[in-house]
Amino acid sequence: MRSVMNILALQGSPRTNGNTAALQSALLDVLAAHHTVYHFHVARLALSPCQSCYRCQRQQTCPTNDDMHLLYPHLAQCDMVILASPIYFYGVTAQLKSVIDRCQHLWLNPLPQRHDRTGVLVLTAGAPDQHGQGARITTDACRIFFSCLGAPLAHTLVATNTDRYPVTQQPDALKAAALLGELLLTKARPN
Ligand SMILES: Cc1cc2nc3c(=O)[nH]c(=O)nc-3n(C[C@H](O)[C@H](O)[C@H](O)COP(=O)(O)O)c2cc1C
Repeated sequence: MRSVMNILALQGSPRTNGNTAALQSALLDVLAAHHTVYHFHVARLALSPCQSCYRCQRQQTCPTNDDMHLLYPHLAQCDMVILASPIYFYGVTAQLKSVIDRCQHLWLNPLPQRHDRTGVLVLTAGAPDQHGQGARITTDACRIFFSCLGAPLAHTLVATNTDRYPVTQQPDALKAAALLGELLLTKARPN
């Protein structure tokens, strides 16, 4: 028996049923059978970018009153964070970058150390990305976000060449997502 994990899944593509959603879903389908998944389509949230006001330094919370306050409790309490994004110019989407930047509040007011949280990154890329450069640069940029949450990045799942072959037509990518789900299940916290 394993205890039930709370998993926060953020889908950062503006497309509801695109490649990123398909790849993340293949992973979440496995995890959701055993754990509680809180899924947010970030583009549907009302989110402002960070205003760099630094009031979070004094107030210990972000003064911008928007949907980010739906995410803060999950970011603080979840056991696993699964961030999913298409690669846009070797980075995540603007919508997801807003979420990341709004975590400056957690950078300045660090969460209590837990040592048992996991970060997972799911990326899709239109180009073949044969040398993995796009995925590597995007992954490196996201790594600091995961460590800011105290959920070090443990796995990056990537599907490339989606402009030619949508993820739904890439059985190997969907299988890799399901296998990663199985692997994460084996690493769930024991009771
Ligand atoms: C603004 C924009 C920038 C993009 N930049 C890249 C890129 O740098 N490298 C790449 O391989 N694909 C790039 N793409 C293609 C997307 O990453 C690819 O189509 C992705 O699978 C879309 O995912 P979605 O269907 O979930 O939106 C870009 C697409 C857009 C719209």
